[in-house]
Amino acid sequence: MLNKKVEEAINAQINAELFSAYLYMSMGAYLDSMNLTGFSNWMSIQVQEELSHVQKFYHYVNERGGRVVLDAIEKPEFEWDSVLDVFEATYEHEQKVTSLINGLVEVARIENDNATYNFLQWFVSEQVEEEASADAMVQKMKLIGDFGPGIFMLDQEAMQRVFVPPAASEGA
Ligand code: FEO
Repeated sequence: MLNKKVEEAINAQINAELFSAYLYMSMGAYLDSMNLTGFSNWMSIQVQEELSHVQKFYHYVNERGGRVVLDAIEKPEFEWDSVLDVFEATYEHEQKVTSLINGLVEVARIENDNATYNFLQWFVSEQVEEEASADAMVQKMKLIGDFGPGIFMLDQEAMQRVFVPPAASEGA
């Protein structure tokens, strides 16, 4: 049976992951409005990543005999200053999510819930990747600056990004 405090904390994280998906969809819409379909593809893969995180938490709560309770999703931003601004905001957002995951780990530890503590280690590793992939985009964009052909090429590269679902053995 899932500890109530842990259950509430995971439900809050489900809302945060849904907001992440919503935010990245909004970023994708902004990029699409500029015909940057490669960067928009990058964001649509990010949306799928976030929804897979939601599913992972959802299944875990049910597996432990808990109850998933959904809350309202906050309205995301919809305007940014530039593509660089979008990816800097992405990197910043992922750092925030990492701190939320760390907070969840702390709740599991305080509540002596070792199963949840173990389950959360996947997310601890995932956040390393999430931060790294957003930061890589920021760094490449800073290198390119305002050089149009460079932006075009990076947009083409972003078009190649595909969604790789977590392995079945990882419980997604
Ligand atoms: Fe669900 Fe991008 O962290």
